[in-house]
Amino acid sequence: MVTMETTELDTELSLFKYDTLEQLPSRYRELEEGERTERIEAALEELGDDVVILGHNYQRREIVEHADFVGDSYQLSTEAAAADAEYVIFAGVTFMAESADIITDDDQTVILPSMEASCPMAGMAEALQVDSAWAEITAAAPDANIVPITYMNSYADLKAFCASQGGLVCTSSNAHKAFEYAFERGDKVLFLPDKHLGENTAHRMGMEDRIAEWDPWDSGGKDSEAQHASSSRTVSGDADEVAESDIILWDGYCQVHERFRVEHIEQIRAEHDDAKVIVHPECRREVVEAADEAGSTAAICETIETADPGDTWAIGTEIHLTEHLQRWHPEVNVLPLCGDACMDCNAMRQIDPNYLTWVLEELVCGRERNVIEVAPEEKELAGLALERMLEI
Ligand code: 13P
Ligand code: SF4
Repeated sequence: MVTMETTELDTELSLFKYDTLEQLPSRYRELEEGERTERIEAALEELGDDVVILGHNYQRREIVEHADFVGDSYQLSTEAAAADAEYVIFAGVTFMAESADIITDDDQTVILPSMEASCPMAGMAEALQVDSAWAEITAAAPDANIVPITYMNSYADLKAFCASQGGLVCTSSNAHKAFEYAFERGDKVLFLPDKHLGENTAHRMGMEDRIAEWDPWDSGGKDSEAQHASSSRTVSGDADEVAESDIILWDGYCQVHERFRVEHIEQIRAEHDDAKVIVHPECRREVVEAADEAGSTAAICETIETADPGDTWAIGTEIHLTEHLQRWHPEVNVLPLCGDACMDCNAMRQIDPNYLTWVLEELVCGRERNVIEVAPEEKELAGLALERMLEI
């Protein structure tokens, strides 16, 4: 077996892309909910139409209560673009705020209250690292035209890289269409960063036996199972397999969604014989296969909104969304798929309501804090990758 070595990178890969973060001043750390709510409302009254607050479905109750729009990552970016507001406060994670900055007009400013809200999965495929792996992957299949596709959950520089190589962006609801776009133009797909979404999409397209997996972290051997205890499949990725496969999956994953197991579905069905199960496509392949439905956070919301009163749905996604749906739809029996073991997303959790109070009160005083600004050259190319997605 030919073993490929991943080039050593001289540059440290950082946990937070925007490490010029401003921390919360100490006077904001201990605010009580009652006082905080009053102050947020007073600031919003003062700012009026100058500000719009976007809240991702995974944000906590104290944030979504103040949001003008609550939705999935893609919906929120389009809301940002449609809004006239000068300031877009994005209660989500870094890659979402970057996408909003790319899509919004130049005179709109995007603010991410806490810069520590960085999706770990997006951090598993930094553009620098992908650029280095790209040289090895393309060398393994020199006659092939490989089209890179990146999931929305990635940084703007990776979106820009994909555009520069003829690729595009996708969301969890249109990944199969992005694959079709790529196969109309090339011979192979490199899918980043979420191997589970990639594998679930390959199955949907009947291409499950055409997959190789690329482990960017292993510079020794590509099939060390010990390093891949989190993966549902044995990792492969030598040059021969890359050359022979049609779909190369980057070895990234979301720890919130990897947690769900088939046993959780079996247990829910044993306890509630009428229960149906819906999971996010970032879940492992076998979990998606065992569930009744799989879909983006928007699709999960729609399923519960359109359920009949008395229906039982178990949800396999981040716990805050399950809790919101329980609160918003008391007529439906909404259950967390793995009970108390369901996780919150520690990146989303960084958007503390105290941070929201701070950035709003600073705006009232004419000061912009924690602005997300994508570099112009990245913005143009990443915008192209997003435009290609809109065409599919
Ligand atoms: P959506 O695009 O479905 O909102 O999902 C984003 C996300 O981070 C899922 O983990
Ligand atoms: Fe990233 Fe997972 Fe959190 Fe979504 S739930 S933002 S993929 S870490």
